[in-house]
Amino acid sequence: MIPLLTYLNPFSKVPKIIKNRMEIQDYIRSRIDDERRSFDPNNVRHFLDLYLQQEGKSNSKISENHLFLTIADLYLAGTDTTSVTLQWTMLYMIKYPDVQKKCRDQILEVIGEDRDPVGKDKDNLPYVMATIQEVQRIATIAPLAVPHLAVEDIEIDGMTIPKNAIIFPSLMSVHRDPTLWEEPDVFRPERFLQNDKFVKKKGFSAFSMGPRICLGKQLAESELLLIFVSILQRFDLSKAEENDELPIDGIMNGITQQPKNFQMCFLPRQ
Ligand code: HEM
Repeated sequence: MIPLLTYLNPFSKVPKIIKNRMEIQDYIRSRIDDERRSFDPNNVRHFLDLYLQQEGKSNSKISENHLFLTIADLYLAGTDTTSVTLQWTMLYMIKYPDVQKKCRDQILEVIGEDRDPVGKDKDNLPYVMATIQEVQRIATIAPLAVPHLAVEDIEIDGMTIPKNAIIFPSLMSVHRDPTLWEEPDVFRPERFLQNDKFVKKKGFSAFSMGPRICLGKQLAESELLLIFVSILQRFDLSKAEENDELPIDGIMNGITQQPKNFQMCFLPRQ
């Protein structure tokens, strides 16, 4: 509320946050510069090239800053979210070794040890898919999604949300709603299975909902599947110490909620 106090507080983390942010910005700028140097308008290689192609057109409204912000948005929204979700999957796998075993058994049966997983394996890995979604549900890494603004007065269930109100959609309350989920506080991948097939559930909202649903949903889902499967193919995961308690309450770190620090062992499978 009083920003100046942040700078007077010798223990404030804000200077470090600003420094980190500058480093990320420099990195993104250097990546854009690299691509710009090798850009060939007749050989569009990826999203950034498409942007550069538009930028070159005389009537283009796309500016350098616009390009930077778009790429930064994708980087920032797409890195921490996926890695924090993977941290939660690791935590749940060492906390629930029986679930880890069922996932691995299915992976070895469907893919084996030698072949790398591919996106379409998801159709044959219902228990693995159910486990990833159950981790996403119970951990809800973006408990309040991102803030939205009401562009006009809206009435919902007899209540008026006034124009310009800032709205934080509570995804955590959807994920813990007992009218949608039986025993919502219990970790149970089977809730996403029906006759041993993976089923989508109406209340699943890890990527939020509506027209502004996460833009990277499909990418994130493939990344989660491919990385999770590759790890379980190669490693047995376990607690570092038998008596470690492994708390499952997270820490809010800006927009995302990450697990408290924990230690674990990755034992290469024989
Ligand atoms: C497990 C991983 C991820 C989770 C849980 C996640 C979750 C979310 C959530 C909850 C929102 C807010 C939606 C809203 O406005 O209500 C969001 C927005 C967004 N996400 Fe993700 N995300 C993930 C990965 C990614 C990836 C990999 C990318 C891109 C490479 C990405 C790009 C975006 C962008 C650009 C938005 C803003 C969309 C808009 O406002 O129209 N996300 N994400």
